Amino acid sequence: MGNNTKTALVTGAASGLGFELALILAKDSYDLILIDIDSQKLNEAKTSILEQCNIKITLMVKDLSVVNIAQEIYNDIDNTTIDVIINNAGFGLFGSFCDTDWERESEMLHLHILTTTHLIKLFLPDMVRRGSGKILNISSLAAFQPGPLMALYYASKSYILSFSQAIANELKGTGVSATVLCPGPTKTAFQEVVSVGNNDNKITFNMACPKDVAVYGYKAMHKGRVVAIPGLFNKFLSILPRVLTRNRTTKIVRQIQNKNRDI
Ligand SMILES: NC(=O)c1ccc[n+]([C@@H]2O[C@H](COP(=O)([O-])OP(=O)(O)OC[C@H]3O[C@@H](n4cnc5c(N)ncnc54)[C@H](OP(=O)(O)O)[C@@H]3O)[C@@H](O)[C@H]2O)c1
Repeated sequence: MGNNTKTALVTGAASGLGFELALILAKDSYDLILIDIDSQKLNEAKTSILEQCNIKITLMVKDLSVVNIAQEIYNDIDNTTIDVIINNAGFGLFGSFCDTDWERESEMLHLHILTTTHLIKLFLPDMVRRGSGKILNISSLAAFQPGPLMALYYASKSYILSFSQAIANELKGTGVSATVLCPGPTKTAFQEVVSVGNNDNKITFNMACPKDVAVYGYKAMHKGRVVAIPGLFNKFLSILPRVLTRNRTTKIVRQIQNKNRDI
């Protein structure tokens, strides 16, 4: 790795938004450390990126929902300088909290909350010491209000939004920035997981393309913007809880969840 080469770490890089972000970074000449749970998909992503870009890619097959996995990653990376961290890996779960599977929910909370936070905790001091670095956390439009029938997903994305905004404020003047990307519905494998009975979601009119969302998030990260919401309609939706109250928007989310799945 040459001295002038910058390195970016991307979680959940084997598909969807993570893959698109990795590809943009590669086209921008970043070397990549790509992390995902599925070795085959990760290797396919690497091959696809290397067909288009001449950079160095290191793969790490890790289950990011495991306790202390961030420390393991930090130790494995050893003395490579990390210039960009993109905390993107995540998944959704649908169902009434009373009935849903705790093991899977616990994995989701570890992945979205603890691993994201711990990775930043470990890499941030080096970035601040160097006076440069960029963090991009992937939250969701779900962060702006409670989400009945996806209660923990919405709550965990709220955590990512709040945490990112707070550290972005703390980092002012350090040369390090924190950006939080809050996409609306985006056409990736994520949507297949949160739909029920392998049916596609019924409400698809506001579905974005992952490449467009990734480009939007990447530019926002480089500009050092704090909150990035792609799409005018999504920006409008993000302020609804302030205009209509959180109580009212919670009911609207419930109605949408019901309609989407014919409940
Ligand atoms: N798509 C949307 O509508 C939407 C909207 C708002 C926010 N987001 C957020 O965007 C981010 C990216 O999602 P996406 O839409 O691009 O979905 P995706 O295509 O499913 O990509 C997520 C990637 O993360 C990986 N992953 C999941 N659990 C993991 C774990 N425990 N350890 C390591 N890797 C893991 C997945 O691997 P496997 O597939 O092998 O499990 C997958 O490759 C997520 O944080 C999601 O919450 C998505």
